[in-house]
Amino acid sequence: MNIKVFKDYDEASFYCADLVASTINKNSHPILGLATGSSPLGVYQEIIRRYQKKQLDLANVTTFNLDEYVGLPRTHEQSYNYFMRKNFFDHVNIKEENINLPDGLAEDLQEECRQYSQKLLAMGGTDIQILGIGTKGHIAFNEANSKLQAHCHVEILDQCTVMDNSRFFKCKEDVPLSAITLGMMEIFCSKKIVILAFGRSKAKAIASFNDDQITTEVPVTFMKTHPDATLILDQEAAAELNVV
Ligand code: F6R
Repeated sequence: MNIKVFKDYDEASFYCADLVASTINKNSHPILGLATGSSPLGVYQEIIRRYQKKQLDLANVTTFNLDEYVGLPRTHEQSYNYFMRKNFFDHVNIKEENINLPDGLAEDLQEECRQYSQKLLAMGGTDIQILGIGTKGHIAFNEANSKLQAHCHVEILDQCTVMDNSRFFKCKEDVPLSAITLGMMEIFCSKKIVILAFGRSKAKAIASFNDDQITTEVPVTFMKTHPDATLILDQEAAAELNVV
């Protein structure tokens, strides 16, 4: 596990954008695994900046997002589909047909999960996967629990996640209670994993990298077994780390 601690969010985002850019430049048809939330926003902004300056071409890029709320139409301001378009896809030249997100309104959610997983795995998984982490160390919406699921599935959100994500909604009651999420296996299949964590609220989950243990109670710890995983932190998220 590579651990990189940066002065602040902007420096960390710039470094992560470098990793994404080099993946794009090295592959003829790069496949990016993308996350929503506050953690990757700076990375998307930096990639957009490089695209606008003609330093980066995304014409051959395919994307797969990690997750989507169940029950929100893609036009809903808090859907992850809407988030990705507003904060990234609308500003770069990724082709519409190469953008993949689960459909949280699918009539048959199990079938939607099966097809989403199958499409991703048939393409060989992602070349780079950007992950944020939840307060309790969830990745995508694989919540801290006594068991984790390998494949794409519908997950009931932890109360802590509902509270954390309520900051984006008018009130806590508006936060969907479940989401379609990639499972541990589809995430792990990525050739390169980049985990972003910023701010004091992530320090406890990040402290789980102080030892070599893996636990379903902190799902991000499974990334310790990935051959090419990098933790990208600011100083606050690294506050309880003693291995750097
Ligand atoms: C979002 C996702 C979540 C977030 C995590 C951190 O697609 O998969 O796991 O990455 O909840 O969210 P932020 O970055 O908003 O702190």
